Amino acid sequence: MTKIISSYKTIASPGRGILAIDESNATCGKRLASIGLDNTETNRQAYRQLLLTTPGLGDYISGAILFEETLYQSTTDGKKFVDCLREENIVPGIKVDKGLVPLPGSNNESWCQGLDGLASRSTEYYKQGARFAKWRTVVSIPCGPSALAVKEAAWGLARYAAISQDNGLVPIVEPEILLDGDHPIERTLEVAEKVWSEVFFYLAENNVVLEGILLKPSMASPETIAKYTLTMLKRRVPPAVPGIMFLSGGQSEVEATLNLNAMNQAPNPWHVSFSYARALQNTVLKTWQGRPENTEAAQKSLLVRAKANSLAQLGKYSA
Ligand code: 13P
Repeated sequence: MTKIISSYKTIASPGRGILAIDESNATCGKRLASIGLDNTETNRQAYRQLLLTTPGLGDYISGAILFEETLYQSTTDGKKFVDCLREENIVPGIKVDKGLVPLPGSNNESWCQGLDGLASRSTEYYKQGARFAKWRTVVSIPCGPSALAVKEAAWGLARYAAISQDNGLVPIVEPEILLDGDHPIERTLEVAEKVWSEVFFYLAENNVVLEGILLKPSMASPETIAKYTLTMLKRRVPPAVPGIMFLSGGQSEVEATLNLNAMNQAPNPWHVSFSYARALQNTVLKTWQGRPENTEAAQKSLLVRAKANSLAQLGKYSA
């Protein structure tokens, strides 16, 4: 446990949050296709190099979640990406789940794979410089959720969290309740309460130290944030948890910033911050277009979003 204390304190430092660039090769390929680039290792490396070598990134970003390929990559000058991050006081993280597959016996729902061999993979990732981990599972409201799917999601997250802590990695616990569907927000609240209560039940069963985890939930729109998102979290998440890092879930860049800002204007007992992928990267990709001459402008656009979210972490953002 002492191994992970400095990591979570750095990640949950005021005015900073997480840059999520842990897209699988397939998902990264979709992002690259949107600007007409092929999904090659060279193009993925070039894009990640642009992001991870942005000068001054550490002023607003405290952690970066990487995909396995990126953890082992270096810049074209031969400097390891993890060393670029360390120089900016950014903690390197690693996505450790192996993705979603259909859950037999459920209502067309899915479960998250990756527990087999996780302990030995985590030891290797730690040696490579990773200090925190991410495991994303999903719960679908339109598909149920069935009791089986919720239990499987919660149990998987708890086993992963215990294994991560045992190997010196701070686990990000992420049961993403998908924003899809046209059900009322009260139904989302009901499902979220159920999911988080099971997650904390199994975290306790697995002797996970709550002071050494971070949470990653999805959030409602600004008007409803205080009423629903914070109500749900206050009902279900103990104040021992040091940080809650929201995902952007397909919201626009500005929407995601406004929502985080709203969250930080109401009193709450945690460090509430961001762990955004799309809401930090959309403009960067469009600006870059795969052209070296656009790199600097693209990095500047990353800093603009990172700074806006840094202000939102402090509850001081205005559009
Ligand atoms: P989005 O912010 O694009 O929803 O992604 C968050 C995430 O889970 C990636 O790690």
